[in-house]
Order: sequence, then structure tokens, then C-alpha cells
Amino acid sequence: MQDLLDLIHQRHSERTPCDSHRLVSPQALEQILEAASWAPTAHNMQNFEIIVVDDPATLQAIGVIPTRTSPVFLRENSRQLSASVEELRRRGTGVFAGMFPPEWRNPDADFEAIAVAEPPTPLSHSLQNAPCLLLVLYDTRKRAPASEGDVLGFISLGCVMENMWLTAQAFGLGLQILSVFSSEAVEAALRTMLGFPAHLKIAYACRLGHPAETHDYVRVRRPREAFVHRNRYGGRDQTEFKSQLPGDAR
Ligand SMILES: Cc1cc2nc3c(=O)[nH]c(=O)nc-3n(C[C@H](O)[C@H](O)[C@H](O)COP(=O)(O)O)c2cc1C
Repeated sequence: MQDLLDLIHQRHSERTPCDSHRLVSPQALEQILEAASWAPTAHNMQNFEIIVVDDPATLQAIGVIPTRTSPVFLRENSRQLSASVEELRRRGTGVFAGMFPPEWRNPDADFEAIAVAEPPTPLSHSLQNAPCLLLVLYDTRKRAPASEGDVLGFISLGCVMENMWLTAQAFGLGLQILSVFSSEAVEAALRTMLGFPAHLKIAYACRLGHPAETHDYVRVRRPREAFVHRNRYGGRDQTEFKSQLPGDAR
């Protein structure tokens, strides 16, 4: 049990570049994909396909695809940033503002103007030398029954993500989710390049590899007593539910 909890705590978003000389071993890749296959999915619909991209020429071609930051992302991102590590620890949610350029941090900024002024960024900036990319595709035909907006289907894709992420962590591999891959423009470019049909949509991509550097960053969570309710909403038992973990779980 302790091993499982340690793995859950150690799993993290790896945002440092990959060591381009160290490939993902076939054994690790196989186990990560095996873990994906055993994820729980609503109605056991298994509503996903995964394209493994580890051909250097294809990764290079993907890296050239330009991306633009959307004003919606900039606006909503700015609202949940913490200006200092102390603030981040106090809030227990969101991310540290220092991860982003200074002009992205002011919630009152003109984000339409900022987004237009920003030059397009090639996907290679997101890939950071990753030798392997897992493209998780959502199969829109495999809907869970009677699920408004296929919410249950999306939850299922999250289960696939966590299974793969924990397995990658167990192999000492760094994994970062890249939401930018599900933007319309990137999806269109990749659809042509990789040949997936219209009923498949990109849910997310996982950048996978051995981190080239160690980068410790502060990871926070709300203490359990902030979100656990005993028997009724608001019914808390402070003593019993007091969190055993420090804010920084890593
Ligand atoms: C659906 C989803 C999308 C995410 N998209 C990104 C992303 O585009 N880039 C990124 O660096 N992290 C992304 N993350 C990672 C979260 O930011 C991260 O899990 C959260 O900040 C907690 O940090 P931790 O993973 O280190 O515990 C995503 C996570 C999820 C579940």
C-alpha cells in the first residue's frame, strides 16, 4: 500500500527537457500501453486510440507545426496564478505565476492584443526533445449511453491518462500532458500528417522521456479537510481528517 501511495505522490508533471540520447525502452512503452488498456472506461466503451510517435523524422515534422496561444487561455490562466510560492501554498490550488511570461500574469491585461502580438511558437518548444509522444485520440462514436455531452466518456480518457502516468512514473520516466495538441489547428495538421479519420479527435498528448535535468518545483494540494465532508456537506471532523501530508507532496 505504501508503495502505491508513494507512486501517487511522486507522479508529477515533468516540464524539463528530455535527454534526447535516452530512448523510452520498449518494455516501459509496452507496460504503459498495457496500463492504458486496463483503464476503467464508462460502459467499458474503451473510447480511445493511441498513436505512439517515436520516429525521429515524424517527431521533427510535428515540431515544426506552429501554435498560437488563445486569448481565452490567457484570460482564464491569469485568474488562477499565484504570485508567490507562499500564496500558492496558502491557496493549495492553481499554479505558480513564475511559469509564465510577465505579460501573461495580469488578469486585467488586454489578452486579445497580447495573443495577436505573440509570434507563433513551433510545437518543438512543447516537445522539448521528447523521444516519444503518445497521442490519445477520443473516439466520438464510442459514446457512453445516456451521458449528456459524453461527460462519462471524457472522464474515461482521464482514467487512461492516470494509468499511463503512474506506470511511466514507476519506470522513472518523465511525462507531461500537452493540451496544446487538442487545439483545432494542431489537430488539423496532425490529422493530415498521421492519417487519423474524422471520428477521432485529439484528447491530449503525452510527452514521454528521461528528464535531462532535475527541476524541483513546488506542488501543492488542498489539505483533505478542505474538501472531505463526513456524512453531509459541511460535516467535517477536523481531528480525524487532518491531512498528514505537507502542502508540497513531492
Ligand atoms: C486534462 C489535463 C490537461 C493538462 N494540460 C497540461 C498542459 O497542457 N501542460 C502542462 O504542463 N500540464 C498540463 N496538465 C498538468 C497539470 O497542470 C498538473 O497535473 C497540475 O498542475 C498538478 O501538478 P502535478 O501533475 O505535478 O501534480 C494537465 C493535466 C490534466 C489532467
